[in-house]
This record gives sequence, C-alpha cells and structure tokens, in this order.
Amino acid sequence: MNTSDPIIEFKNVTKRFGNLPVLKDITLSFRQGEVVVICGPSGSGKSTLLRSINRLEPIEKGSIAIEGQVVGNAARDINAMRQRVGFVFQQFNLFPHLSVTENICLAPMHLLGLSREQARQRAAALLKRVGLAEKGDAYPGRLSGGQQQRVAIARTLAMEPPVMLFDEPTSALDPEMVGEVLAVIRELADDGMTLLCVTHEMGFAREVADRIIFMADGEILEDTKPDVFFTAPSSPRARAFLAELRRA
Ligand SMILES: Nc1ncnc2c1ncn2[C@@H]1O[C@H](COP(=O)(O)OP(=O)(O)OP(=O)(O)O)[C@@H](O)[C@H]1O
Ligand SMILES: [Mg+2]
Repeated sequence: MNTSDPIIEFKNVTKRFGNLPVLKDITLSFRQGEVVVICGPSGSGKSTLLRSINRLEPIEKGSIAIEGQVVGNAARDINAMRQRVGFVFQQFNLFPHLSVTENICLAPMHLLGLSREQARQRAAALLKRVGLAEKGDAYPGRLSGGQQQRVAIARTLAMEPPVMLFDEPTSALDPEMVGEVLAVIRELADDGMTLLCVTHEMGFAREVADRIIFMADGEILEDTKPDVFFTAPSSPRARAFLAELRRA
C-alpha cells in the first residue's frame, strides 16, 4: 500500500435498520495520520458509520476497504481486519475479573502470540503512556471512569492498530474526568495516529481535528476543516446543531 492511499475507504455504503435508512450511499475516505471528528444529532448514524468499519454492523450495499483491502464476509477476514482497527467504546468494556495488566495483555498474547513477559512489558509501557504506571495490579472496579477509559485505550493500543476508532469516549464520564481522557487522545493525534472520533466535545474537535464530518439522517452534510465548520458551515442542519450546542 502506498502511504498516500486511503487507509479506510467507503464506496456507496448503504445500510438500513428495518425500513429506516441509517447510512445512505456513503462514499468517503480517510488518509493515514488524519484526525477526524464525526458529529451530528442523535440517531444520525455516527455509531453505525464507525461500527460498520470493523463489521460490528454489517452493511447492505457498497464496500469498505481497510489498507486497500475490501473486507469480505469470511470470519477470518473480519478477525484479521479487527486487529488493524482499534475500537474504544463509550462504556469501557474492561474485564472486571482481570487486573489492568491482564486486561491489556490478553489480546496481544492470544492474537499476536506475544509471550506473557513481552505482553507485560508492552502493558507497562502503555500504562505509563496513559499516566497509569502505578495501576497495573488494580482491578477495573477500583478505578475511576476516566482511569478505566485510559486503560481501555491502552488495551486497544497494545494491538498496535494503525487506526483507532472512538465512539463518544468521554460521554459516560463525570465532567472532571473528560479532560484526562481527551489529553490521552490528543497525544495519540500528535504522535501521528490515524483517529476517527465521534464526540460532542467541540473544543477538542476544534483544536485537535484535521477534519470534521457532520452527519444527519444517514448522510454526510459537511466534510471540512474545523475552522470552516465552526465559522461557516454550509448546511442549515449544521448551523442549527452548533447553535444548539452553544445554548447547552
Ligand atoms: N440495532 C439497531 N436496531 C434498530 N435500529 C437501530 C439499531 N442501532 C441503531 N438503530 C437506529 O439507527 C439510527 C442511527 O443510529 P446510530 O446509533 O448510528 O446513531 P448515532 O448518530 O450514533 O446517535 P447517538 O448520538 O444517539 O449515539 C437511529 O435511528 C437508531 O435508532
Ligand atoms: Mg452513537
């Protein structure tokens, strides 16, 4: 793959839930190193767009390619591809009966074949990176929401995916913990990681994103640079959405 090729490419992707169209003929690509914020009203299809990338949601028509390879329906394709695309959820989904270090080591040992010692070293380095060097032996239930989300990010990074997807990573957090999680994501962005992030944190979007995608009713209404999006969005829906956020 050439580095200028898209790392993720949607071609005419369509999906419905029952009769409800949720993704309407989406054609879209992301380049390596891009930091993209996806926003839009509730129910507009943001999570579905993200989840369709690693087939947490199957699509009906069109294709999605990752690193130049169209992902087919075979389970082996999907598993190989899921290792290339890290996903961080709103709810952290850590295993409660495993320590922080064990949570991080699990996938690299089972899927990448790292030895326990190699995996533990990787976990220790990642915990340091997310500011939790002291928490390796703790169990998730003893950590704050912000700490759990940082562990979840470390766990995803342990697979060394070239792309990370975040679906509202701070929406389940108390306000005082939002900043610590956004700071970790911002560092990943600064390190050149390809990031797609659904978020309502518009301050973060403005400062960190290279590109903002605004969705409504299963369509992409804006796909532009943050300064354009925040000062002169072209669609009335985006103007209304921003006005609503400012009032909130
Ligand atoms: N599993 C499902 N079955 C049926 N309908 C669904 C399912 N998942 C999502 N939907 C519907 O599809 C539409 C898009 O949902 P999606 O979760 O992608 O929106 P969203 O933009 O992420 O919204 P939010 O901001 O609330 O997270 C919504 O109308 C939703 O109710
Ligand atoms: Mg959502």
